[in-house]
Amino acid sequence: MTQDNDEAIVQVPPFQTPKGVHDILPADHEFHTYIKKVVRHRARQAGFRRISTPVFEFTEVFKRSIGDTSDIVSKEMYTFQDRKGRSLTLKPEGTAGVVRSYIQNNMNQLPQPMLLYYFEPHFRYDRPQKGRYRQFWQFGFEVIGESDAALDAQIIQLANKVHSDLGVNHLFDLQINTIGTSEARKQYMQVLQDYYVGKERSLCDNCRERLKTNPLRLLDCKEDDCKILAQLAPVMKDYLDKESLDFHEELKGYLDELGIKYIENLKLVRGLDYYSKTVFEFWDKNDGAQNSIGGGGRYDGLIELMGGQPTPAVGYAAGVERIIANMKREKIRVPSKDDLHVFVAQLGNEAKRKCLPLIDKLREAGIKTMGALGKGSINIQLRIANKFKVPYTVLIGITEVREGTAIIRDMSKGIQETLRMDDVVERLVELLGEDDLDRYSPGELLYS
Ligand code: HAM
Repeated sequence: MTQDNDEAIVQVPPFQTPKGVHDILPADHEFHTYIKKVVRHRARQAGFRRISTPVFEFTEVFKRSIGDTSDIVSKEMYTFQDRKGRSLTLKPEGTAGVVRSYIQNNMNQLPQPMLLYYFEPHFRYDRPQKGRYRQFWQFGFEVIGESDAALDAQIIQLANKVHSDLGVNHLFDLQINTIGTSEARKQYMQVLQDYYVGKERSLCDNCRERLKTNPLRLLDCKEDDCKILAQLAPVMKDYLDKESLDFHEELKGYLDELGIKYIENLKLVRGLDYYSKTVFEFWDKNDGAQNSIGGGGRYDGLIELMGGQPTPAVGYAAGVERIIANMKREKIRVPSKDDLHVFVAQLGNEAKRKCLPLIDKLREAGIKTMGALGKGSINIQLRIANKFKVPYTVLIGITEVREGTAIIRDMSKGIQETLRMDDVVERLVELLGEDDLDRYSPGELLYS
């Protein structure tokens, strides 16, 4: 493509990702891997087992659990029909699928509470912006089968531990509230609707709509006028049942006992209908609810609502992209096991042949190795080795093949030594040090 003027021409590739979704490139996978390890470690420590639910479910699974009037169900679901006309939806969050699976697989027959965790992609047709994507990753923890405020406290503590391991906990405030049982909430919703009578004109379009369907959401609207009205609205706590209030006091006592700081936020309601009693969110200290990294709460009525036995539960989920963005903002570097140790450069067909078994032996010895590529000169290959930032390069040319030797070059010092081909592996092990080698061999761990 040419242009008359000298402006740089940017070629737009014919295929791009759809808006709001992105590749996880190798550099970000290092963060993903690290986060997954932290989550797995903390989950194992506390007895959680991993679960994966399908990427799509029958639409009703989400409608019934998250609620018809929630933003997620009414505006953000990727819903489609399969070839037989059944309505399916890409999962917008993890809890609904886990609960469906708990019931379908009779997990209530297993020792309770059931402790489950996941690390999965989720999909919401939201307006893409910083920290808000159409495909995003969440990890989450669910405790199903026991009602005890000590479990709510432990879920919050687990979240805190994971955030601390990832170096971002200090950036967030824990906000907590209780929204009571759904019965008690019904009465409060009526009070709230009555309070807003005559004030509708001051509300934003969204809130005017929600007033009829989901008045609780008016409490956490971000628009200025709505915020002022919400400040003056009747307080939910005054209408909640004693059991929920006592439960909340217990939770606060346990959090104090664990030394976990929290902010009591009487306006926190969360955007999913399944919660009862405890709700909590981790708010950015600067941006507030915008870009919160995670949230959760108790959902005692959900399992019954989804067709199971009445079963209490509590859980939490966090957004992986938002955590990574905060780790980068804090300039946190994650340990990477992907760095190569050795590049093998060769000249001539015979040298290339000798390199292949050498590369294999190096890898089997735990030395991460690449090389024997293409036909470039030794200098070109050394430049490639530099780009891969390897500490050592092994060079094998025509002379070395003839003499049965090889050269090891220390890339940072620029010095090199010649040694017998048979001694190369042992010498590199010595130079790199046993501790730095990658001897992990999952194949050896299999048992039958
Ligand atoms: P949620 O608050 O809807 O809760 O989502 C949890 C976290 O997922 C958010 O705090 C945010 O970090 C991330 N997230 C949500 N939407 C997006 C998006 N469009 N782009 C990027 N990140 C996003 C739940 O999903 C509940 N299932 C949590 C739960 C588990 N409650 C009980 N158990």
